[in-house]
Amino acid sequence: MAENLIDLRSDTVTRPTPGMREAMAAAEVGDDVYGEDPTVNALEAEVAALFGHEAALFCPTGSMANQIALQLLVPPGAELLCDADAHVITYEMGAAAAYGGMTSRTWSAVGADVDPDVVAGMIRPDGYWAVPTRAIAVEQTHNRGGGGVIPLDTLRRLRQVADEAQVALHCDGARIWHAHVADGVPLATYGGLFDTLSVCLSKGLGAPVGSLVVGAADKIERARVIRKRMGGGMRQAGILAAAGRYALAHHIDRLAEDHAKAARLAEAIAPFGVLAAPVRTNLVPLDLAKTPLDAPTLAAAARAEGLLISVLGPRTARLVTHMDVPDPAIDQAITTLTHLLRA
Ligand SMILES: Cc1ncc(COP(=O)(O)O)c(C=O)c1O
Repeated sequence: MAENLIDLRSDTVTRPTPGMREAMAAAEVGDDVYGEDPTVNALEAEVAALFGHEAALFCPTGSMANQIALQLLVPPGAELLCDADAHVITYEMGAAAAYGGMTSRTWSAVGADVDPDVVAGMIRPDGYWAVPTRAIAVEQTHNRGGGGVIPLDTLRRLRQVADEAQVALHCDGARIWHAHVADGVPLATYGGLFDTLSVCLSKGLGAPVGSLVVGAADKIERARVIRKRMGGGMRQAGILAAAGRYALAHHIDRLAEDHAKAARLAEAIAPFGVLAAPVRTNLVPLDLAKTPLDAPTLAAAARAEGLLISVLGPRTARLVTHMDVPDPAIDQAITTLTHLLRA
């Protein structure tokens, strides 16, 4: 986070806490490409168990974890279904096509909503005349969907749809911890609904780096090969895995504080008619269509007053709460935003 600025651009801007840094310094390490880093191995076992799966694989980024999972599920020339705002096709630089050779088809994105009947109607069966659907991907919580949470019942119905059509289901769970805290759904319940998940330790949980692919043992064995092919084989990565283990032990339950801070921000700016969607977790999506301000102008004016926010589009912006923004800074952000929006 830039010094003396209140940084609400993303929950990826957090810095390791002193306790986390101690855990990193003390980590036992080995060469993880040889499978010999005890801290990485412990993290992988821990995350697999949390989600009730057999295995997990530590990766440098959420994008790599997603793309490895998609390559496990969708062979070249076959199709992935996801929503039009999904991170896997919006922000991952075309990797599904460029590295996985897969095509993608999308349903319209409305927040975090998914209609399992719409998805069911899009699935194309195997056959020589059309591209076969091999996997469906959803995002929990949904980044461009304003941190929205897909209800458990919807996910269960989607699982039925996937089973009936014999296609796989992937969860981009970069912020699945936030859904778990917001809806009280056990991580293992989420885990049981998906063939593969990607989960991030560096978005809200405060680790500097790291994501995992979670799934069945045979899939994760193949994932290890794909990770190496993509240049993601790391050596003494236990230093990073130690930060992740620390984050899991200390920073999941506290996400409720970030959700409360986001709710407070949302309540303060709601009277200006700029909330794009109800706030469920730590993201506050702004729609400035009904104000004279466009997003770059608001962001520039906020920056001049020491507040950083993200511009997502000409009239859309985003605030994200996280562990490096304490309550007094949220008060300050509210003062700044209400002043700018009132002007
Ligand atoms: C929903 C979602 N998935 C995946 C990622 C990718 O993570 P990374 O930046 O580590 O590649 C992000 C990043 O913000 C995200 O928000």
